[in-house]
Amino acid sequence: MTDFKYQSGFGNEFATEAVAGALPEGRNSPQRPAFGLYAEQLSGTAFTVPRDRNLRSWLYRMRPSAMHDRFEPYRGGERIETAPISGVTFEPNRLRWDPLPTPEAELDWVDGLVTWAGNGAADSQAGIGIHLYAANRSMEGRAFFNADGEMLIVPQMGALRIVTEMGVLDVAPNEIAVIPRGLKFRVDLTDREARGYVCENYGAPFRLPDLGPIGSNGLANPRDFLSPVAAFEDSDEPVELIQKFSGGLWVTTLDHSPFDVVAWHGNLAPVKYDLANFNTIGSISFDHPDPSIFTVLTSPSASPGTANCDFVIFPPRWLVGEDTFRPPWFHRNIMSEFMGLVHGEYDAKAGGFAPGGASLHNCMSAHGPDKTSTENAMVTDLKPQKVDDTMAFMFESCLPIRPTRFAMDTSLLQTGYDECWAGFDKAKLP
Ligand SMILES: [Fe+2]
Repeated sequence: MTDFKYQSGFGNEFATEAVAGALPEGRNSPQRPAFGLYAEQLSGTAFTVPRDRNLRSWLYRMRPSAMHDRFEPYRGGERIETAPISGVTFEPNRLRWDPLPTPEAELDWVDGLVTWAGNGAADSQAGIGIHLYAANRSMEGRAFFNADGEMLIVPQMGALRIVTEMGVLDVAPNEIAVIPRGLKFRVDLTDREARGYVCENYGAPFRLPDLGPIGSNGLANPRDFLSPVAAFEDSDEPVELIQKFSGGLWVTTLDHSPFDVVAWHGNLAPVKYDLANFNTIGSISFDHPDPSIFTVLTSPSASPGTANCDFVIFPPRWLVGEDTFRPPWFHRNIMSEFMGLVHGEYDAKAGGFAPGGASLHNCMSAHGPDKTSTENAMVTDLKPQKVDDTMAFMFESCLPIRPTRFAMDTSLLQTGYDECWAGFDKAKLP
């Protein structure tokens, strides 16, 4: 295995070349780029988006991406759906699922995707798709790109080698990757099996949240985000290129590797981030802050402060609050919350929420710590306590999250989830 290098910083103006002299200087589109390369711009925002939000990169490649035949409907990925999700009664119940089992048949990452939920509409560029994946083979001779949204990948089991047009990301559990909308990539398995979660973001690209009074440092620091250096394949072997477009899957066959970008520059790039680098900020007096204090990345909606999607984590941390109920408190939320667990135990649920599992608490559904966790938290000796070996996360969205027919019909859907909140003692008034 080669060790690939990275460039550090979130949304930086990167410049990288795998062959010396491949990157033009002083202009983006010379009359004849070096070595007969082709210049191609990849736009992540409209041309005219304000400068501080504008995303684009210039790719210098062996053949233009435009050199392909017609896309035909792809016969595969039957479990992939796109919002608006239809064909299921949208109920307000709290839902929780056991982990997706690893597949019996051979499945690569694309065919191993199962859509669990979604909201908004991909065509309106608002909302998200939530997928789980379980795969046991690499995408040999195949590549994928998603015209419907960027993809935030949260591996839960098994490391991934994500080969993209702009270089290679090695991403292990407890790390995440974000693949820009439209960027071609291939997922190779580093381990025998892989399982995890994907947030497909139809809306504004994920960015770092503003920090307000926290100041100029903290939470996810920009320098810990890593983008690949340019790396390319010079291959004339056929590659099946699958794209997701407006909810449909389409395929064509290229007579070469699409990973033939020899140099690139710009601020639109795939990125990975190690969640262990998250600078967790919490209460050093009393009360649990709103969980927005744990936001890693946010996709804003048009309404200020209201996220199309927040990616929030519940990482290892010290609890030191005095005279305070320390777990995340009981809650009814206008936002909708889809949770997953990478490893360990979530401190608000003593049991039943397994690594690789998921839960959904939709708009205004009452939730919070289960009865056991609540009772323990109310009597525990409040000495400083380290919450260790845990990494839960949440995709939180301003739009109600609709589960798919698959998610509602699967035997992984737990019955009796409500029981974890049953039987609380009634308060005794004087
Ligand atoms: Fe909540």
